[in-house]
Amino acid sequence: MSMILYHTPASPFGRKVVVMLHETDLIEQVEVEIVQQTPLNPNRDVLDTNPAGKIPALRLADGTCLHDSRVILDYLDTLHARTPLIPRQGPERWRRLTLASLCDAMMEAAVQIRYESFMRPPGMQWKLWLDNQQEKIARALDYFEREAIAELEGEFDVASLGMACLLGYLDFRIPTWAWRSDCPRIAAWYARTGERPSLQATRP
Ligand code: BEZ
Repeated sequence: MSMILYHTPASPFGRKVVVMLHETDLIEQVEVEIVQQTPLNPNRDVLDTNPAGKIPALRLADGTCLHDSRVILDYLDTLHARTPLIPRQGPERWRRLTLASLCDAMMEAAVQIRYESFMRPPGMQWKLWLDNQQEKIARALDYFEREAIAELEGEFDVASLGMACLLGYLDFRIPTWAWRSDCPRIAAWYARTGERPSLQATRP
């Protein structure tokens, strides 16, 4: 194994990287080290790889450290001979990266909801802030539902990978949110796409 990925299966950002490793057949080249940590209790190996203490973080054979998930995906996409998951150039590259970035923004909001709801003592939770995070996700999902569904339905790539990991995280950590009733087209897409072996193998 020439690379070490620091990861926890609950993280949607880490999941993006592991899905990419499956999709590109690179999974055998990476040692996936599962770490237990929270923002209040960072892991020593992760801190040595990413001073911010955040996962996923990837240590290469020569000791080079890569983070965050966007940088790692970009790097891994240079290591395989299949169709790139991030278009190499042209308007398509910037469009797909922008859609992927919107999925990351939804993931960040969902993780914030999780931390605010489960790590902060109940008396200190800020409902308005929680509602704003949820509205951010709802707005972005609505954008995909109305304006970008055809793009999701194309090739499975960095944008659709991000959306699948976001939806998996919503179902995992905010199971009471019936997002499918507001977004039936995304729901239909996810019902099909979620069958991909890479997503089945990495369910949180
Ligand atoms: C979670 O447990 O939901 C989680 C863990 C690590 C990163 C992000 C989320």
